[in-house]
Amino acid sequence: MTEIIDRADVALILADPRFLVPEADAAASTPFERFRADVSRFSNGATHDARRRRLESMLAGIELAALARTAASLTRSALEAEPASPVATIARHVPVTALGRQLGFRHAESLPPLVAAIADAYASGRATDAAAADAATVRLLDAAPGADASDDALLVQLLVQAHAATGALVERAMQRLAASGPVSPSTHEVLTATLRDDSPVAMTRRVATGQPEHASTPDVEPGALLVLRLDGPDRDAAGDRPPRTLAFGAGHRGCPAPHHALAIAVAIVEELRRAEARARIDRTTHKETIDVDAR
Ligand code: HEM
Repeated sequence: MTEIIDRADVALILADPRFLVPEADAAASTPFERFRADVSRFSNGATHDARRRRLESMLAGIELAALARTAASLTRSALEAEPASPVATIARHVPVTALGRQLGFRHAESLPPLVAAIADAYASGRATDAAAADAATVRLLDAAPGADASDDALLVQLLVQAHAATGALVERAMQRLAASGPVSPSTHEVLTATLRDDSPVAMTRRVATGQPEHASTPDVEPGALLVLRLDGPDRDAAGDRPPRTLAFGAGHRGCPAPHHALAIAVAIVEELRRAEARARIDRTTHKETIDVDAR
């Protein structure tokens, strides 16, 4: 395994079609392994292109404003039900439920724990609890509203891809805001900085099938498994030039849903900030009341 750290090198490899993703086992028969074999993320060539086109048309059917309204309303409901809800809980529930609703899944609010049960094993295919991963996969596919089994797998893929990455973006943005000084950045600024400096997805993988197309791409052995860091240094960055953002990947396999991810993240972060501001005002008013009463 070779690790490529510099973002300049990683960007060249992501743009080079001779670097493929490690494929899922096309002959797999257990539900979770079958699911991995049916999605775009672990397929190459014409199969990937066809699945990717289908995913893009599914994503195009989602109205971003409606997605954002759903994410905001779910965040408000979670805070009303439990004002001290940890950010992590909201960040892990709202993206999947909001997307599930917009995509037409049945029982969207029951989806986050099912997605969480397969999210960790999704990238590698190695589930610590294979029976739990299979059971969650079956329930997710049952709840999907696709016209056929292939569409169901792609719809579930959208939820799984969204889950940890969007949740991590929200959590890290809130941590950044908590650490910011008296002048807080705007929500857009904090999300942009988080994506650039604290990539929610730290790395991805490729397999080299030949020498790189671009002369300056690092030399790699054909067949080598490469770990590509999306959060490494960037040799092209300089004083007035920030490092390039690779959080959403790049090239023909880059994330097809950055606008969806941002619509959800902005909605959640704005609601969390509003709730914090209200809590601050309540605390100040409460303290002033006590001060007045004590006089
Ligand atoms: C902050 C949130 C997100 C981040 C940082 C992120 C990041 C990424 C990255 C880095 C990849 C490419 C992996 C590679 O090249 O090997 C990717 C692929 C993908 N993402 Fe996202 N993603 C996010 C949210 C979402 C959301 C909300 C959705 C769905 C609505 C989504 C759907 C997908 C899909 C379907 C792919 C696979 C594309 C393909 O196989 O060609 N992502 N994402």
